[in-house]
Amino acid sequence: MEKPRSAPPAPLKAVLFDAYGTLFDVYSVALLAEQLFPGRGQALSVMWRDKQIEYTQLVTTSNGGAHYRPFWELTRAALTYALKRLVPDARADWASGGFDAKVEQLMNQYRHLSAFPENREVLQALKAQGIVTGILSNGDPAMLAVAVKSAGLGDLLDHVISVDTIHKYKTHPDAYALGLQATGLAARQIAFVSCNSWDALAATWFGYQTLWVNRNQLPFEELGTQPVYSGASLRDVLALPGLAPQPLGGAAA
Ligand code: LAC
Repeated sequence: MEKPRSAPPAPLKAVLFDAYGTLFDVYSVALLAEQLFPGRGQALSVMWRDKQIEYTQLVTTSNGGAHYRPFWELTRAALTYALKRLVPDARADWASGGFDAKVEQLMNQYRHLSAFPENREVLQALKAQGIVTGILSNGDPAMLAVAVKSAGLGDLLDHVISVDTIHKYKTHPDAYALGLQATGLAARQIAFVSCNSWDALAATWFGYQTLWVNRNQLPFEELGTQPVYSGASLRDVLALPGLAPQPLGGAAA
């Protein structure tokens, strides 16, 4: 893990995780997308994700949030857009209803996204150290509940925080502030972990001790701020300097 650039960190009391892309693999839908739309699965999964995030930012920054819709609805809208854009030759299927069934299949897959395999051991190690754990996500409560249950993580999370309560998506600061309200802690006492560079950047701006988990060796955002920490795996959470040193059975190696 890369070291922080400046002052020693405050002791960490909580670790909050982004959900989609960080605990749950949003690109795992590419396999089914490829089966349904051969040759376009990978591109569909990428455009679906990018459009979904674009929609969250659009509805948060326009007309005082008047166009807010839950993340599940934006996810469906983003999929529809990506399909119309990337599978234009299937347009006739829209009328016949054949397309609807494929949309439902993909949405169902999204509801049960694969969880990254190291999640459980990392959360267990944090709990063993007495660290407060949670999710802070754009996902709406129903989506998050199914994803957490499917991944078997419910007993390891103290908080599952959804921005749906305030109708403002990340990167609005009010969305990040939900983590302070839920834990009763200051931002500097909380590590915020995200694989999404835009999310890690905005959480850094907000004041969290951020860890950007760069699973795919991507460049970070070019806006003049770096995340406090960078790593390549969720396991790097366990090596954060602000965590109390505890024997972890080698999990932090
Ligand atoms: C989340 C998405 C944006 O907040 O990754 O879980």
